[in-house]
Amino acid sequence: MINLVLFGKPGAGKGTQATFLKTKYNLVHISTGDLFRYNIQNETDLGTLAKSFMDKGDLVPDQVTIDMLEAEVNRNPQAQGFIFDGFPRTKSQAAALDAFLEGKKMNITATIALEADDDILVARLLERGKSSGRSDDQDESKILNRFEEYNQKTAPLKAYYQGQNKFHPINGIGTIDEITTRLTQLIDRL
Ligand code: AP5
Ligand code: MG
Repeated sequence: MINLVLFGKPGAGKGTQATFLKTKYNLVHISTGDLFRYNIQNETDLGTLAKSFMDKGDLVPDQVTIDMLEAEVNRNPQAQGFIFDGFPRTKSQAAALDAFLEGKKMNITATIALEADDDILVARLLERGKSSGRSDDQDESKILNRFEEYNQKTAPLKAYYQGQNKFHPINGIGTIDEITTRLTQLIDRL
């Protein structure tokens, strides 16, 4: 079983690359952002709650996010492994994930970080914002707030996973294909 955390700032390409990796390695892809957006679309209570945070580019509270993630893993008992995309994003989420997986005799195989400069990421997100309908892509101040949240709350996870010898940075600049190749070369060596 391999369980990967795809790590990186907003726009780094986590969702894009997960689409290729899940097919190649037969993994279940769980994006907490996609799950929240699904709930918003279906007007669930969870969606209403999440929307109030996501519209501003703030993180959704930890416990809500952790509960949703665990439910999604539990919905896939036959999985040969998972790609966690956009989760964990805080130390308390990372600790909860470790404890949850340990309870299932599972663990994180590797955390792979897609790295790119902010100006490239802002350009990608503003471009997508023209057609995605994502409120958090629409203006630069919301994008910058997402980066701020990342810097304050998510960036410390680098040290957390380095401490477990599981942190692998990858150059996230280039064509989508080039980055997929970098990722598969790394994963094949794990
Ligand atoms: P989430 O949905 O996770 O969004 P994000 O991490 O802010 O950023 P993206 O998903 O937009 O980026 P990505 O890295 O997936 O890049 P993508 O492949 O899409 O979270 C949204 C919100 O939900 C959060 O702000 C928070 O409120 C809430 N949330 C989610 N998880 C949470 C958690 N764990 N805790 C608390 N709150 C949580 O690519 C971006 C664009 O770039 C696309 O248009 C793509 O086509 C393009 N692109 C990708 N790769 C390349 C390339 N190599 N070259 C050119 N363009 C590229
Ligand atoms: Mg994404």
